[in-house]
Amino acid sequence: MRVGVLTGGGDAAGLNAAIRAVARSALSEGDTVVGVRNGWAGLTGEGDHVEMDRSAFSGILQLGGTILGSSRVNPMKREGGLEECLRNLRAARLDALVAIGGDDTLSVASWLAQQCAPVVGVPKTMDNDLSVTDYCIGFDSAVSIVTEALDRLHTTAASHHRVMVVEVMGRDTGWVAVTGGLAGGADLIIIPEFPLTLDQVVAHLDRRRAQGSDFSIIVVAEGVQMDGVTSAEAAAATDAFGHAQLSKRGVGESLAAMIEQRTGHETRVTVLGHTQRGGSPTAYDRVWATRVGVAAYGLVAERRWGMMPVVRGGSVEIAAMSDVVAEQRRVPIELYELAGVFF
Ligand code: F6P
Repeated sequence: MRVGVLTGGGDAAGLNAAIRAVARSALSEGDTVVGVRNGWAGLTGEGDHVEMDRSAFSGILQLGGTILGSSRVNPMKREGGLEECLRNLRAARLDALVAIGGDDTLSVASWLAQQCAPVVGVPKTMDNDLSVTDYCIGFDSAVSIVTEALDRLHTTAASHHRVMVVEVMGRDTGWVAVTGGLAGGADLIIIPEFPLTLDQVVAHLDRRRAQGSDFSIIVVAEGVQMDGVTSAEAAAATDAFGHAQLSKRGVGESLAAMIEQRTGHETRVTVLGHTQRGGSPTAYDRVWATRVGVAAYGLVAERRWGMMPVVRGGSVEIAAMSDVVAEQRRVPIELYELAGVFF
C-alpha cells in the first residue's frame, strides 16, 4: 500500500511522535510511506508530497513541530478545493491517507471519507476540545508550559505584590487555562465556558487583598469575551478557516489595563502564545501520540475509512471522524468549580 500522512492546522508537540508511529507501523508491513507537505496545501493545487524512507522517521520522537509542515489551508473554502484533494489523492496513487489534526483538518478528512476516499484521522489539538476523545495530542505539553510559567510568575508576583495576568491559548474552550491554572495554583481562571464580568474580577481581587493576599495570578484563555476588554477591530482578523486570530485580540493586555485602572494595583501581563505549542513533547504526549498513531495504521490495514482512534477511559477506542468533529468538548462545570476552590 502507499500510505500518505498529513498534519494540518496549528502544530502541537507530539505530532512527530504520531507521524513516526504511523510510518514505522506501515514500513514494518512493507508499505510505502508518502509525506504530504503542509497540511491540505499538499493536496490542493499541484499537490506536494514525497516518498519517505525509514531514516526520515529516525530521531523525531522528541522533536516539536512537524517534519511534514502544516498550514491552515482549507479546501472547503477554496472553489473546487475538496474535489482537488480527491484528484490529488488519486494522482499521488495513495491507497490510504492518515490525517492528523483538530476539528478543521478532521472535518475535511471526514468529508473526503464520505466521498469514499480512503482516509482515517488522528486527534491532535493542544486545545484538547475534540468531541468523543478524552485526549488530543499536544495538550499535556501545552499544560506543562503553562504550569512552569505560573511557577515562575508566582515568585516575581509575590516579590512585587502585583497582579499577573497570564493569557493562554484556547479559542473556544478553556481546557489549557483550567488545567494549567489548577496545576500552577492560579488565583483566578477565566475561560470561554464560564465568562466573568470585570466587576466580578475586581471584586475577587479586592477580596483577596482584604484577606491578606497581596498578589494574584489570573489565567485567562485568549478566546474569552468580556465587555470592554477586547478590541472589536483586532477581532476582525481571521485565518483561512475563518477563525479570528485571537493573538491579535489582546485579551490579556486589555484585561490587565482595565484591572490596573479599576483597582490601582500594579498589574503585568504575560502572553504565553506559541511557546505553548513549541519544543519537545512531554512523555505523556509521546506515549499517546504513539498509541493513537499505531492504532490509526491498524485502521488503514483494516480499511476502516472514515474512522479514527480516540482516547476513552485510558484506552484507545475507535470512533467515526464525523462524530468527533460534530461538536466541541467544553470544560464541565465540575472541573471549573474544582479550580474555584482555590480562588
Ligand atoms: O487551534 C489551536 C490554536 O493553538 C488555538 O488555541 C489558537 O487560537 C490558534 O491555534 C493559533 O493559531 P495560529 O498559530 O494560526 O496563530
